Amino acid sequence: MTFKLLVLPGDGIGPEVIAQARRVIDWFVARRGLKVEIEEDLLGGASHDRHGTFLTEATKARARAADAVLIGAEGGPKWAHLRSGSGPEARSGLIRLRRELEVYANLRPIKAFAALSQESPLKAEVIRGVDLVIVRELTGGVYFGEPRGIEKLPDGTRRGVDTQVYTTPEIERVARAAFELARTRRRRVASVDKANVMQTGVLWRQEVQRLHQAAYSDVTLENVLADNCAMQLIRDPRQFDVIVTDNLFGDLLSDGAAMIAGSLGMLPSASLGAPDARGRRKAIYEPVHGSAPDIAGTNAANPLGAVLSVAMMLRHSLGLGAEAELLERAVEAALASGLRTADIAAPGTSVVTTAAMGDGVIAALEAAARG
Ligand code: IPM
Ligand code: MG
Repeated sequence: MTFKLLVLPGDGIGPEVIAQARRVIDWFVARRGLKVEIEEDLLGGASHDRHGTFLTEATKARARAADAVLIGAEGGPKWAHLRSGSGPEARSGLIRLRRELEVYANLRPIKAFAALSQESPLKAEVIRGVDLVIVRELTGGVYFGEPRGIEKLPDGTRRGVDTQVYTTPEIERVARAAFELARTRRRRVASVDKANVMQTGVLWRQEVQRLHQAAYSDVTLENVLADNCAMQLIRDPRQFDVIVTDNLFGDLLSDGAAMIAGSLGMLPSASLGAPDARGRRKAIYEPVHGSAPDIAGTNAANPLGAVLSVAMMLRHSLGLGAEAELLERAVEAALASGLRTADIAAPGTSVVTTAAMGDGVIAALEAAARG
């Protein structure tokens, strides 16, 4: 069966990092017999410029028909003014696509790369050996809650509203994803909420605890308040294995935790839906970094988040865990050989381009394949 992949390079540095991810996919096709059929389409500002919307119905249909979607990045100052209000354009194409495919479990692995121990702003002894995954709820919470919008008040001032809302099934399915993942790792889950302040937090904690007792008592569960989690991630990140949290806290905590890996440019992600009857899940793979308009088009972006997202696709959508590890080792080898894009270069050291980093990964794959 040929795997159908929809590629949406998007905006800013998206097309540059996706070009390197595609070279890596091409390598697996040419050298490892991977069978994949690739379609490309527009997303975000690129789509708005052409079609007047961040996500067209046709692109949605292509995404639904694909086995997986690989995204670069979306957005930029050129389109920021379109985002206010309560119509569909107030939500980015990316956010609409996540909801459309119902990819509720967003896996954001954070690893301390040995080669980058001096490049992280955190002390080498604090980050050594860190290997954790943030499982962020991706299709609910304040990103989607209604009512939302900005309204005029009689006195001429305005009122902005967002709604944080979660239901039992929404909490349960993402918690299940986290417990299942923990079973393949060190069997520890930290569930993160603000149960001391928010009703959604109280519900979150109760539902996670109930599921834990009912089905996952072999996994150690700890409840952590979100503000404390932010501190613990910096103070002692090795204590974490799997962190499960809501959409907004997951957004914040994953950017913060990225500094463990040295740069947001290093982080991949997988967003997975519920398994269907044949065990297949809708999936979006995307680097966590945004569109970085300040460096777009300069061949300076770090492509490793996108490349590592391909590794996650090999593992989670294609069931090719060994191939995923081959690619992850190639990334480590490229770093160990000293290649650094600007975001991960120590001051005064030399910097390579996006494409040269891609060359380094391909060379490392070649070397590994030769054994
Ligand atoms: C992320 C990003 C997105 C989010 C933005 C680009 C809408 O920050 O994937 O973390 O907030 O989810
Ligand atoms: Mg974010």
